[in-house]
Amino acid sequence: MAKVEIESLSKRYGENFVVKDLSIDIPQGEFLVLLGPSGCGKTTTLRMIAGFVEPSAGRILLAGRDVTTLPPWKRNTGLVFQSYALFPHLSVEENVAFGLEMRKVSPAERRAAVSEALRLVRLEGFGARLPRQLSGGQQQRVALARALAFRPDVLLLDEPLSNLDAKLREEVRVEIRELQQKLGLTTVMVTHDQDEALSMADRLVVMAQGEARQIGTQHDLYERPADRFVAGFVGRSNFLDGGAAPDGLFLSTGGLRIACASRARGKGTLALRPEAVSVGPEAACLDNSFEGVVEYISYLGSVLDVRVRLSPQDRIIVQIANRSGEVLPKMGDTLKIGWPATAGRVFPEEGVSR
Ligand SMILES: Nc1ncnc2c1ncn2[C@@H]1O[C@H](COP(=O)(O)OP(=O)(O)O)[C@@H](O)[C@H]1O
Ligand SMILES: [Mg+2]
Repeated sequence: MAKVEIESLSKRYGENFVVKDLSIDIPQGEFLVLLGPSGCGKTTTLRMIAGFVEPSAGRILLAGRDVTTLPPWKRNTGLVFQSYALFPHLSVEENVAFGLEMRKVSPAERRAAVSEALRLVRLEGFGARLPRQLSGGQQQRVALARALAFRPDVLLLDEPLSNLDAKLREEVRVEIRELQQKLGLTTVMVTHDQDEALSMADRLVVMAQGEARQIGTQHDLYERPADRFVAGFVGRSNFLDGGAAPDGLFLSTGGLRIACASRARGKGTLALRPEAVSVGPEAACLDNSFEGVVEYISYLGSVLDVRVRLSPQDRIIVQIANRSGEVLPKMGDTLKIGWPATAGRVFPEEGVSR
């Protein structure tokens, strides 16, 4: 177990920075998730921590030791790939023993470590099978056992659940998290799936185009997103473009005058969570209240997503609980909606300032 320190880490291919000036301190035992869209540099970051990709600049410290230039097998990190990367012709036991052989562990210790690792992932008795004789979920657990067998200081998981079907994915999420907590393992997981990230992480790094846009807990990211990208990527937001009116209200492109917690300045975008918007008569008493026409309804079971057009340029999605006995809106209905000033958050135009 160890802390991980990432200092101003960059990776450049030719002129192209795929990771840019990334700094993160990961305390011992933390489950940190790198979350971001495909191509934003998550895997590259993970592979730099593991030692498979050489950084262009910056440093990586594991347990206080600078490992930036060390090869993978000298840094004691356990990496689990999206594709599992099991050797098809080796048995489960031999697959799990692989990292131990690389590290020159004695045969007796190796056997003990392999059976302990298989026990941890609940695959005792499967040691003699070949990977193709296992389900996807079991193969993933073999990959996990292989990464755990040599007791790594840091566990690195690259989209470990993306090849599993939805139901299994939720089970394995819980399994990985419980195991990580039980072992107190410092863990860095990469994913593009926000549900997975939010449900597993102690803290998250939201990445875009090689940069960390925000580092924080679920609560930090959801309640205080640093910029428009984070507001749209973590949870959902409605966005209304516009800018400051002379009186400090936010004036949308479509002419809505909107009160916000703080004075608007310059051009910007107002972000509003769908669940913060009230619908019906009570909406009229809120700081901001408008009438709009229902344009589209998505029936999601317990809730309905209702898209309401407020002006030719402004439309927002509101969430309506599907309670029995209540009349639900229909397409074309006129709906009163409203929200308190504190619900809206204005971000300056991207690229102007952050
Ligand atoms: N060896 C490489 N040479 C050139 N470009 C690369 C190389 N590896 C990755 N990239 C580029 O770096 C960017 C980030 O890739 P990656 O870290 O795999 O993203 P993610 O895991 O977030 O989807 C992508 O645009 C990818 O094409
Ligand atoms: Mg990737």
